[in-house]
Amino acid sequence: MQQKVDDFRLKLGEKEYIPIMIGGMGVDISTSALALEACRLGGIGHISDAMSPTINDRLFGTKFVKNKLKNYKHNVNSSDKTSIKFNLEELAEAQKNFVSKTMQAKQGEGGVFINCMEKLSMNGPRETLQVRMQSALDAGIEGITLSAGLHLGSFELIQDHPRFHDAKLGIIVSSVRALRPFLKRASRTNRMPDYVVVEGPLAGGHLGFGMDWAQYQLKEIVIEVQDFLKENDLEIPVIPAGGIFTGTDAVEYFERGASAIQVATRFTVTEECGLPDGAKQSYFEAEEEDVVVNTVSPTGYPMRMLQNSPGIGSGIRPNCEAFGYVLDKNGQCAYVDAYFREAEQGSKKISVPDKVCLCTHFRNYKIWTCGHTVYRLKDTTNLLDDGTYQILAAEHVFRDYQFSTDHSIQLPVPDLRIGADSILKVA
Ligand SMILES: Cc1cc2nc3c(=O)[nH]c(=O)nc-3n(C[C@H](O)[C@H](O)[C@H](O)COP(=O)(O)O)c2cc1C
Repeated sequence: MQQKVDDFRLKLGEKEYIPIMIGGMGVDISTSALALEACRLGGIGHISDAMSPTINDRLFGTKFVKNKLKNYKHNVNSSDKTSIKFNLEELAEAQKNFVSKTMQAKQGEGGVFINCMEKLSMNGPRETLQVRMQSALDAGIEGITLSAGLHLGSFELIQDHPRFHDAKLGIIVSSVRALRPFLKRASRTNRMPDYVVVEGPLAGGHLGFGMDWAQYQLKEIVIEVQDFLKENDLEIPVIPAGGIFTGTDAVEYFERGASAIQVATRFTVTEECGLPDGAKQSYFEAEEEDVVVNTVSPTGYPMRMLQNSPGIGSGIRPNCEAFGYVLDKNGQCAYVDAYFREAEQGSKKISVPDKVCLCTHFRNYKIWTCGHTVYRLKDTTNLLDDGTYQILAAEHVFRDYQFSTDHSIQLPVPDLRIGADSILKVA
């Protein structure tokens, strides 16, 4: 009999999960609703703490952004952003609020974890990351997955927290080269990661590869990581991510010793996903040639996105006074430099071709990052009479991963609506 994902379980300590993790997708693309749904179904869902003060304002009517802008308003036309700092107390409050509200709604036996993208260095990488992690733990998060721009000393930042050993801690790496020094340093805290997500070159978001990403294969990197852990007598669950599109893809990894999968792209077109409906339709409509990996992210990492993302080329004024999440430890951001370079040209309408303002455009869902397999999403749903694609329920996609065999993909029960317009007319 052919095996399916449901024949396997992920064990983290004493707990067992359906071995499906929905990866963190900032900024609030992997919403609390999506993470909670994964948890309810017995898997693990991630919220993302990228721009949590900004997200709090949108979700709960707080005024973190307004207050920050008020403090730094005098600086908005300056190219020098070094003075713009986050108020750590407010950052803690935002993070606690967001996480605790999510945890209060938790149902089911799965887990709700948070994705901490370390490259959001917020003009104070060490202290802001420490506050983000500590506050998430204070608010009851069950696991923290550290991603993009891992700092070797991250575990040390929370080693005095009472939940340091109780919460699950994981890291995302794309090579043994990145894993080895992290583990060496983590050993100083007498605590290894509880799981290692191995993210290959087909993933969405920022890539842990250079522009030569196409030369790498997830399957090979997973084997390298597994061999490395075995050689070092480390029993840490390995969780491949990037391009796993069917339950059968997942089973192929499980048969070679992987403990779970981390997936994201198939959930971008679900009701629970935070992308606006128009963006979800663009994801469905995408063809393979529309998917690009480029260097427009000011973080310095290549990123995969749809080439018709509305934010590409935009010359919007940097808004570090309100946001400023990408500012590095010296208060620099490559978009700020690129913007003022273009502004000096004196043209009326500024366009910045080589970098994007990640904060503003991610907040407004104008950069459509996606995994390489985005162009296959149209095969996972029904085309409606009005030419749009039927949005899926996260439960449907989750169960499809869980139970499918032979690479089959279950289509949703057809939506009998003719289209949103018609519903409005009827109403
Ligand atoms: C829209 C989108 C946004 C993402 N944002 C993040 C992020 O903020 N942090 C992160 O670590 N990974 C991010 N990722 C990567 C996913 O968490 C995941 O590991 C990967 O995309 C899995 O591959 P798949 O999309 O092919 O299933 C993102 C992926 C997508 C599709």
